[in-house]
Amino acid sequence: MDKQKSLDALNEKMSLECDCSLRIQATQAVPGDGNAEAEILFIGEAPGKNEDLQGIPFIGAAGKFLSEMLSVIRLKRENIYITNIVKYRPPDNRDPSPEEISACLPWLHKQIKIIRPKIIVTLGRHAMEHFIPGKKISLVHGQAFRRTLPGLGPQVFFVLYHPAAALYNGSLRATLIEDFKKIPKVLEKIRSEKSK
Ligand code: URA
Repeated sequence: MDKQKSLDALNEKMSLECDCSLRIQATQAVPGDGNAEAEILFIGEAPGKNEDLQGIPFIGAAGKFLSEMLSVIRLKRENIYITNIVKYRPPDNRDPSPEEISACLPWLHKQIKIIRPKIIVTLGRHAMEHFIPGKKISLVHGQAFRRTLPGLGPQVFFVLYHPAAALYNGSLRATLIEDFKKIPKVLEKIRSEKSK
């Protein structure tokens, strides 16, 4: 089975089986969007209001900003895959709890296993904290890390501020754009290592 079919089947199955307590209040699951063959996987925090209504991640203001940054590095949404650490909207967009994150993690890990991205870009501190615990985002944004994930093997992560946090904050916005522009170089380095 190709990656897209496997991912679609996984998302359908997990939408029925995920036992995250946020599910009760949410309109629907927001599994992810984009290309299962992508080299880059973006992981945000949790769906917001628009995402909850439409079942697609990053379609509000933060998503628009993300698409603008993608175009700066000559990419479109169709070239990447994007999802969240939590697949259901927390009420009033509050932070997801550790229990809600844990309940959604098997889904995320299975997505990573199918996509096998060359690089995982974490958006915001929740996604960063899961993969690269104990760091301060203000100190490590714009940096790449290698980590070996249980059951997934070695993986490169690249840390970014969340587009929603940077949207209306001039200096954070400029920092995020500068960090974003580093992605092609990091990816090129990973590609050249893999071809050796
Ligand atoms: N913010 C997120 O982290 N994810 C979305 O899907 C939308 C906004």
